[in-house]
Amino acid sequence: MVKACPGPFQASVAQSARPRWPLIATALLLAATIYGFSGRLLPWNVSASAPFSFPDAWVDKDTKMCPQAKPLAPQRNSVLWENITALHSSDTFLKRAIAQLSNAVQIPTETFDSMGPVGEDARWESRGPFVDHLEKAFPLVHSTLKLERVNTYGLLYIWEGSVSSLKPLLLMGHYDVVPVAASSVDQWTHPPYSGHYDGENIWGRGSSDDKSGVIGMMTAIEVLLEHNFTPTRTVILSFGFDEELADQRYGARHLASTLLERLGPDSIAMIVDEGSGYSENYGAIFAVPGIAEKGSANVEVEVKTPGGHSSVPPKHTSIGILAAIIVHLELNAPKPELAVDTPLFEMAQCFAAHGPGMPRDVKRSIRRAARRGSAKHLKKAAEYLLQDTMLKALVGTTLAVDIVNGGVKSNALPEQAMVGITASMNIRPHYSQTVVNHLNATLSRDSSLVMDLAEKYNLSVTAYGEPLTPADTPTYGSVLIHAPIHLEPAPISPIDANPFQILAGSIRTARQTGSTKDDVYVAPGMMTGNTDTKYYWPLSKHIFRYGHRNMIGRGMGGIHTVNEHVPAASFVEIITYLTVLILNVDETTL
Ligand SMILES: *[C@@H]1O[C@H](CO)[C@@H](O)[C@H](O)[C@H]1NC(C)=O
Ligand SMILES: *[C@@H]1O[C@H](CO)[C@@H](O)[C@H](O)[C@H]1NC(C)=O
Ligand SMILES: *[C@@H]1O[C@H](CO)[C@@H](O)[C@H](O)[C@H]1NC(C)=O
Repeated sequence: MVKACPGPFQASVAQSARPRWPLIATALLLAATIYGFSGRLLPWNVSASAPFSFPDAWVDKDTKMCPQAKPLAPQRNSVLWENITALHSSDTFLKRAIAQLSNAVQIPTETFDSMGPVGEDARWESRGPFVDHLEKAFPLVHSTLKLERVNTYGLLYIWEGSVSSLKPLLLMGHYDVVPVAASSVDQWTHPPYSGHYDGENIWGRGSSDDKSGVIGMMTAIEVLLEHNFTPTRTVILSFGFDEELADQRYGARHLASTLLERLGPDSIAMIVDEGSGYSENYGAIFAVPGIAEKGSANVEVEVKTPGGHSSVPPKHTSIGILAAIIVHLELNAPKPELAVDTPLFEMAQCFAAHGPGMPRDVKRSIRRAARRGSAKHLKKAAEYLLQDTMLKALVGTTLAVDIVNGGVKSNALPEQAMVGITASMNIRPHYSQTVVNHLNATLSRDSSLVMDLAEKYNLSVTAYGEPLTPADTPTYGSVLIHAPIHLEPAPISPIDANPFQILAGSIRTARQTGSTKDDVYVAPGMMTGNTDTKYYWPLSKHIFRYGHRNMIGRGMGGIHTVNEHVPAASFVEIITYLTVLILNVDETTL
């Protein structure tokens, strides 16, 4: 997970199709009998217009804010589901799951910044043993599913469904991990690649991010195959191997373009990738599947001025001017603004509806802002909600000056003719459905801030390839602004549609089936960073980033830092969640 920050939010009124299982089942069985299908069941025809009904206890009485999908257990495969959940709750299975994850963690698959192409950079070769291991560890998966290798280490598993007209379900994960810094090894309670099980947790780099996802999927499917399950709808697994690289150019990019070439746009019913899990907010437990991601831009500002000996300095060197620009950008950093029609506000409604820990007056403000569009109440709600730094980061465009370069010698003015001075700002454009081009707005904003200072320092400005200063103006120096890496915010996956509701119902069932038998509210969430899904946008409108991580009281569980670990019981529940999701999706036409 790249800078994964699960932030939850909830939409106003979700409704979706929920089949009348027994009726439809009977009808189809009858049809099958009448037309003499040889025992093969048709997919359930779910009427897309039948609304979900929400049990009263799960709906906020006053507002109907944040209604919840009912827990959804497989119907057609109810016996199989019972058999598998019985297995999942056994001690034998716990041991098996622990061994699978532990073995996978013990094969380091580290991703480093600036890795060269596959075949040239030998560091990719760490993937080979992991891929070989999968083949041995999951024999039925490998004898039943078709495995295609994309750019050597990208793995596409195709589990052909019996009805080819149904759009496939795509489950994604990545098996690379962030490196363990040599200097941090002694801070680990158990060695980072030990996969040690201490009786409660499985430890090690990748135990959560994201080998729990990859091994969870493989284990879920191996077990389904052991129980002779054959899918109606094709299931595709897509495992990247460079997710921890900023632009995932060797793994996800190739996997996505292979799928796009093969299947065409909008060809996948639903995509579920790694992502958030469930945690406590305002006194209740919320699962927060990511339905959106912020955009990002790395902006570079380069100042060039004449050089010379430092004994005869100008009033400002290029370093001094750059410092002024940085200060100006930071002083004028975008202000986070809560708006009613944004996912983040919808999340706030969810907390207001179900979180007993939120003060009553805040709940009232959120409700009134939602219902009547009251600006006064929206402001009150924002004052409270944006005290939370995570929510604040999700609501607005953020700016961080990350890199500064300049100067080479103490007695030479830094003209830096070629390299200049670089400030790199990681900007996350504001997410809002009403702003058509967030990235453009963010970039223009930066260049106009730089323009503010151009006259004062007598500089010409070129922004994103276009001169902003008339060509014939004599200037002392120049500023070059460009954005080598930039990405628009992800399209938002709808929550008032079957895929989200099936996901939500599956999450609740998995939670109720897990070792704690707890329930959970489901609220659509948002990611501040991007997962591999950023290359998959054209393939489906229904993309969710959710790994069913248990984050109650444990935060991110050491992801990207020391002591990454996952409770074994939580890992089993991840497998249960993936199983129920696969079965539920298989039973609906979506
Ligand atoms: C469920 O388990 C029972 C008892 O072991 C077995 O007879 C049956 O075939 C299983 N059914 C499925 C669908 O797995
Ligand atoms: C923003 O969009 C406008 C209109 O399409 C275009 O002229 C301008 O160059 C864009 N700015 C940036 C920074 O991309
Ligand atoms: C800016 O610098 C150039 C080159 O040194 C000089 O010719 C010009 O007069 C300066 N402009 C102003 C407004 O100081």
